[in-house]
Amino acid sequence: MSSQRQETVKRVTAPDIAARKNGTPIVCLTAYTTPVAEILDEHCDLLLVGDSVGMVVHGLPNTVGVTMEMMILHGQAVMRGARKAMVVVDMPFGSYEGGAEAAYANAVRILKETGCQAVKVEAGPTVADTIAYMVQRGVPVMGHVGLRPQAINVDGGFKAKGKAGEERRRILEEAKATAAAGAFAVVVEGVAEGLAREITQAIDVPTIGIGASAGCDGQILVTDDMLGLFDWTPKFVRRYGDLRGEIGKAVAAYADDVRARSFPGPAEIYFAKAG
Ligand code: KIV
Repeated sequence: MSSQRQETVKRVTAPDIAARKNGTPIVCLTAYTTPVAEILDEHCDLLLVGDSVGMVVHGLPNTVGVTMEMMILHGQAVMRGARKAMVVVDMPFGSYEGGAEAAYANAVRILKETGCQAVKVEAGPTVADTIAYMVQRGVPVMGHVGLRPQAINVDGGFKAKGKAGEERRRILEEAKATAAAGAFAVVVEGVAEGLAREITQAIDVPTIGIGASAGCDGQILVTDDMLGLFDWTPKFVRRYGDLRGEIGKAVAAYADDVRARSFPGPAEIYFAKAG
């Protein structure tokens, strides 16, 4: 059955995304599980198995503690749910910064063990050569500039970037180097609006914004943020749902029913066969 499904549905590829520069905005969301990937797949061009999984699903304080094993496990889960959308898996902190060969080996492991179509790396000042090495050897790579969550211990917190001066110039250069290295798209996170537009105009692959204005070629959000699962979200998130409230209401109703012995009722139990 599953091979028949694969034959009839054409999945979005890295070249498809790259070709959307200045085209219809690219719709992206994060996904970590099979059922959610199934729902998002119908509406999204690209699903990112973000290392935000560490914070969103596993309750970590930041993404630094996320491991290759976590990314592979969640990448496999998302690939079981997504049929049409391109699936990109984040390379976790420590899996690509130490050198191009080690990065390539880890990227190949992610591609082979999950079946995803590409990896994403946070493109700090020294990563362009590594991106080029991986792309030249068959690994599609998405870059990520601006606010880089894996750099939290250097930056001292999650802070918006590139509002002025030297930092602004550096982020623009990192985006250009990432695109020149062969990345098929670049996530631009948490930067001032003017800088997002400048990066979008300066590079010839699509920019995917998060907290970076509508001046990008596409947008991404953490799905659980936009669905309203948390009681706090960053300024740049628009809440399209109230999952926290809905779950609370449903669980309160269940608890009431259990305490009142009205659940399970006749429709929810098995009866012995007559005779
Ligand atoms: O890990 C993640 O979810 C991300 C997105 C926020 C872009 O990198």
